[in-house]
Amino acid sequence: MGSSAIRELLKLTQKPEVISFAGGLPAPELFPIERFEEATARVLADNGRSALQYSTTEGYLPLREFIVEKMGQYGIEATVDNILITSGSQQALDLIGKLLINPGDLILTERPTYLGALQAWNAYQAEYTTVPIDDDGLQTALLEEALQGGPKFMYILPNFQNPGGVTLPLQRRLDLIHTADKYGLPIIEDDPYGELRFEGRASAPAGGAGCPRVKRPCRGLLARQRHLPQHLFQNARPRLALGLDGRPQERHPKMCDGEAGHGFAHQHLQPSGGV
Ligand SMILES: Cc1ncc(COP(=O)(O)O)c(C=O)c1O
Repeated sequence: MGSSAIRELLKLTQKPEVISFAGGLPAPELFPIERFEEATARVLADNGRSALQYSTTEGYLPLREFIVEKMGQYGIEATVDNILITSGSQQALDLIGKLLINPGDLILTERPTYLGALQAWNAYQAEYTTVPIDDDGLQTALLEEALQGGPKFMYILPNFQNPGGVTLPLQRRLDLIHTADKYGLPIIEDDPYGELRFEGRASAPAGGAGCPRVKRPCRGLLARQRHLPQHLFQNARPRLALGLDGRPQERHPKMCDGEAGHGFAHQHLQPSGGV
């Protein structure tokens, strides 16, 4: 396996003379260190023994319950059985690759797309068909043409896309859902930034469940990964926790099998895996 482009980028950021715009590094002076100290001290004092112990593969139940409630605010009906906590998105992307990608399988992505996903899936010898983005994100008018190659799933970043920074408007979300539903194409929605905003409200998930005028979730919606809770964890502790909402339901046990097969059991306060 070749060296990781992300690892090389992060190496550069260690040089004090370099201000890197390449990686999405939060400003360290904004890290809520005191609040994090307080929270850690409280957990260790109240539940230290179980917090440092191994846990179930699915992850800490109260956190999964919190995520279910949070998803409910977006109109996504999930139960704790749909939620799998991973150590950052990279582990989730890897699990998706391990479960779904056979060598040569075609994956539909936006062009350009998130480097970390390509790295995760290149390891499983994925091939890509791409649809360009413009100022309004994925150009849904070009989607059907790209589907002719028979991709296995679609990977989209509908909010503040990385690296484009663009957000998919409602009409394109509806077009996307309509097309995915027509072809039964699973959608992997990666949404680390939807709630990280200065103004306005987070948009309905592009996967369909929370979109007004969509009566039922898109049958293709497979997994929605959300980096939670954004405002604390994304700044305080990149890669601390990530929720995966599996749909249809039967996918989720397979995700757990994939994770267990990796030898992962969660410690509630475990150090996160790096990229
Ligand atoms: C689209 C996207 N997914 C995932 C990640 C990484 O998330 P995590 O910190 O959970 O590994 C990033 C970070 O740059 C990202 O932009």
